[in-house]
Amino acid sequence: MQKIKTTKEQVIESLNTKEWISGESLSQQLGISRAAIAKHVNSLRHEDYLIESAPRRGYLLKLSPDPIDINLIKKSLKTKIIGKGEWLYLDNTSSTNQEAMIRGAQNIADGSLILAGVQTGGRGRKGKTWFSAPRSVSFSAVLHPNIPSKKLSLLTLIATLSVQKTLKEFVGLDAKIKWPNDVLINQKKLAGILVEASLSAGEIDWVVIGIGCNINTERSEFPPEISQSITSVLEESAKNYSRNVIYKEIISYLDHYYSLLLNNQEAQIIEDWKQGSDIINKIATIQSNPKVSGSITDINEDGVLVITDTSGNKHLIEIGDHTKIQISD
Ligand code: BTN
Repeated sequence: MQKIKTTKEQVIESLNTKEWISGESLSQQLGISRAAIAKHVNSLRHEDYLIESAPRRGYLLKLSPDPIDINLIKKSLKTKIIGKGEWLYLDNTSSTNQEAMIRGAQNIADGSLILAGVQTGGRGRKGKTWFSAPRSVSFSAVLHPNIPSKKLSLLTLIATLSVQKTLKEFVGLDAKIKWPNDVLINQKKLAGILVEASLSAGEIDWVVIGIGCNINTERSEFPPEISQSITSVLEESAKNYSRNVIYKEIISYLDHYYSLLLNNQEAQIIEDWKQGSDIINKIATIQSNPKVSGSITDINEDGVLVITDTSGNKHLIEIGDHTKIQISD
């Protein structure tokens, strides 16, 4: 028996031509008023459809939602730890990191993942907010690593590296890690990482690695105040990628580098991170009193930045360090 299509389904079908279609033609095709068409278009826009409209031209469907299928992602993974705990998909949430921290405190299994369709209160570093773009990747992993707390910086390093590797090796973009927690393409931010942890008596209870990465977002969908400083995979590659596939790649790399970390193979992590970051030999200025300036000569085995000043003195900067640091060529 053939299923009768809803008006919404008919509107989507009629819009799905990659061409402009006038409100008048839609109204005639579907036998509903132009006001009803406008209402449907508006509600589709709230469901991640990017539909442009212009006087005399009508409507153009530019992007459709990119549904997340956690079973598909799960099946495609061959990971050892990450993805081996619980999986939670939230259509709409304030922040996956917040959700993950609540569950971390409840002792959720190691390697659990929380993915979001939409985040309304994405958390960024230093109390900033993170704009979760339409059709982006937003997720958090909960881990219970048995490592000394002085190695916590390495978790940010493995997360930025996993995103950089995905963008470089899988998508083919010239992605670079920007210290400490960004991934950039052509100097524009494409991804941000926020690692949050709970310690008791100096030992790690749990860690949340939160990753946000802009995938199928058009520049026009970014807020104007940041639209020139951020970018997406779509903008940089002119291609749409299924988020399910991008999730698989990032999670697989994360699991690989996390396993290296647990097996004391920090040297390999640092080597790959240095290659993905272009940071060595750059000039760092630390806004301390007195101001310190020097060349970035290394990242040590704890993921700490080593800056060597002109007198040969070494200064160490950790990721969680609140000292302001400027990095230039
Ligand atoms: C930054 O650039 O300052 C870090 C941004 C981190 C954003 C991700 S999106 C998934 C996870 N949930 C959050 O609330 N934040 C992180």
